[in-house]
Amino acid sequence: MWRASVLTIFPEMFPGPLGVSLAGRAMSAGLWSLEARDIRDAATDKHRTVDDTPAGGGPGMVMKADVLAAALDAIPQDGRPRLLTSPRGAPLTQERVRALAAGPGVVILCTRFEGVDERLIKARHLEEVSLGDFVLSGGEPAALALLDACVRLIPGVMGKEASGVEESFSEGLLEYPQYTRPAVFEGEPIPEILTSGDHAKVAAWRQAEAERITRERRPDLWAAYTAASFGVEGPPRAVGPHEGRELALMRSGAKPLSMFVAPASDETPAFPEEEFDSLINEGKLTKKVVIETMPGPGGPVEIRRVLYARQGEEWRIEAFLMLQALYGTLPGWRVDLERLTGLLLGYDRKDIEGFLARVLRRRPGALRG
Ligand SMILES: C[S@@+](CC[C@H](N)C(=O)[O-])C[C@H]1O[C@@H](n2cnc3c(N)ncnc32)[C@H](O)[C@@H]1O
Repeated sequence: MWRASVLTIFPEMFPGPLGVSLAGRAMSAGLWSLEARDIRDAATDKHRTVDDTPAGGGPGMVMKADVLAAALDAIPQDGRPRLLTSPRGAPLTQERVRALAAGPGVVILCTRFEGVDERLIKARHLEEVSLGDFVLSGGEPAALALLDACVRLIPGVMGKEASGVEESFSEGLLEYPQYTRPAVFEGEPIPEILTSGDHAKVAAWRQAEAERITRERRPDLWAAYTAASFGVEGPPRAVGPHEGRELALMRSGAKPLSMFVAPASDETPAFPEEEFDSLINEGKLTKKVVIETMPGPGGPVEIRRVLYARQGEEWRIEAFLMLQALYGTLPGWRVDLERLTGLLLGYDRKDIEGFLARVLRRRPGALRG
């Protein structure tokens, strides 16, 4: 059973929303448990004091390290991570939630006022977790949100396991748009593709929509997603080891093929097209532009794909386009086609295998072939 222990001066706030719906049913079914302990029980004075004035002066009160330590130490060390709710903490992510849900449970210290004496955090090795870049009046709402996010991922809690697999952040992308009956709402129909019954096309549309929405709304996620897709460690500014260096690599002859793709309507150039074109005039490169139409929520979207090949490597352009066409007819990711794509673009084996390993880690069932 997944076990949660919450330390708070307001135990009456729990279980609150976690006592109803999915989390409530799962608790009744014994899939997880929640105990809320009152920090004041660990105080030793008759006023059950948990806070004091800040050292060095300043507004508000700070929660006392000795009282909080006593409250924490009353919970046996059983391998569960010990979290402290704090706006200074690492922003909570689905990845962290998944890891917490896969473990034995959590111990959460909810603080109030100006926060807690810094010495406690070090002395009890607490992991500071933030709900986001805003300030709450206390840690309890953050603990409720964290627990809600974890409990729904505990095996057996959500009816169809798939619900937790295909959703925002599961693949590093925001989720594609969802639709349901009525077929037409205030004049807007459900996108045709979704009622076509063609699962491969629906899957491709959903992937494209998830990528578009992520690119538009969360460039940080998009950068991380595209970086991970090409096996680049570290800050995800680059899509792949050649990212941003294509021109120099093609000029030097180290790269046989480059491919750039962006919505045809994009005004901002996705790459230094003029400089690439100057290499054509020098007889070094060949260029091909392909306009493709993709179904979009608001109707067909035009995608502009630009390919450059070095002299003598023109065959790679046609091979790449044939590969893309084949890929479009198949569901999901494919090891064989991913390897070929990387080889055509001039990536070395190490980079390609690194990328495949990363995708497999993130999406164990994703790769076929
Ligand atoms: C008013 S806040 C203290 C803010 C603190 N003085 C600061 O500026 O960082 C009181 C408590 O609310 C909780 N809290 C506030 N914002 C939070 C956030 N974004 N994520 C998690 N917990 C938060 C923490 O437990 C914090 O100790």
